[in-house]
Amino acid sequence: MRICVLTGGGDCPGLNAVIRAVVRKGERHYGDDLLGSLDGYRGLLDTETVSLDIESMRGTLPRGGTVLGTSRIQPYAFPDGLERVRRTIDALGIDALVVIGGEGTLACARALSDDGFRLVGVPKTIDNDISGTDLTFGFDTAVQIATDAIDRLHTTAESHDRVMVVEVMGRHVGHIATWVGIAAGATITLIPEVPFDIEQVCASLLRRHQRGRYASILVVAEGALPRPGSLELPDKVYDQFGHVRLGGISTLVATEIERRTGFETRVTTLGHVQRGGTPTAFDRVLSTRFGLAAIDAVHEGAWGEMVALRGGDIVRVPLAEAVATLKVVDPHLWDDASQFFA
Ligand code: F6P
Repeated sequence: MRICVLTGGGDCPGLNAVIRAVVRKGERHYGDDLLGSLDGYRGLLDTETVSLDIESMRGTLPRGGTVLGTSRIQPYAFPDGLERVRRTIDALGIDALVVIGGEGTLACARALSDDGFRLVGVPKTIDNDISGTDLTFGFDTAVQIATDAIDRLHTTAESHDRVMVVEVMGRHVGHIATWVGIAAGATITLIPEVPFDIEQVCASLLRRHQRGRYASILVVAEGALPRPGSLELPDKVYDQFGHVRLGGISTLVATEIERRTGFETRVTTLGHVQRGGTPTAFDRVLSTRFGLAAIDAVHEGAWGEMVALRGGDIVRVPLAEAVATLKVVDPHLWDDASQFFA
């Protein structure tokens, strides 16, 4: 078969490991001919692809980013988008697509599948917010990077007896923040799923600091929201794809803490550091298993399905199910995390 792989949306550690596994089993086991679409769906729109083989993927397992490039461009954004993708697929004789992406890329894959394109999906995102899978690859790496950073912040925070507000990624959900909060021993964690009350946050910090010389570390997901009416938010800024450009909630929280408590408060925004660099061993293994399962799914004609991790096993779920709702933080895990607050 002639199979084209693409990586869409924000990049994520482990993308190359997935591509490598698809190529490895495709070429060696099935005798496939593999292609990569450049910059996600853009390559399919503009007929820009590269050949992929075992040789060209050598050395990519530990490399972050994606050798194919990525973008948020989607065919449905163009009046002639579907036609252009069809033209590329016909011209290059592509039999099937392997689409590796997060919510936006996979929602588009689902629509393409409904429109008759033969494809399977692979869930990717450091945010871990795709339904139908216990975990997405990249999440473990992001959690580890943020935990390492906070381990370092602890000592400087303690030396200066300061409050440190650390902003982590998490657009709509707080998986990274919750895990990092537990792993790094956060004083308080703020996530989008649980709107916070700045008054209560400050009261908890005051109580804690009255007990003695305590530095505090707050882990704040970039999408964390105050309870309606409790704190004024700055105007939203959108990117060219209509996504709110987040980042900045931690500065607001820090300013309020300093104003209301008098404690010296500093902000660290970890930002794209969480998405860069080499994947953890766990993510390399998960990505590899996803890639191998994806090429099997193609050969079994599992069109419109996504590979997923469930209870340690790799399974398939319909893309329709995976993109129907975002996976939010399990309330039991949030309850565990909050046992350690303040
Ligand atoms: O990969 C998902 C994510 O990390 C979100 O948490 C974050 O809001 C977004 O990507 C930012 O991506 P970019 O800066 O590429 O628009």
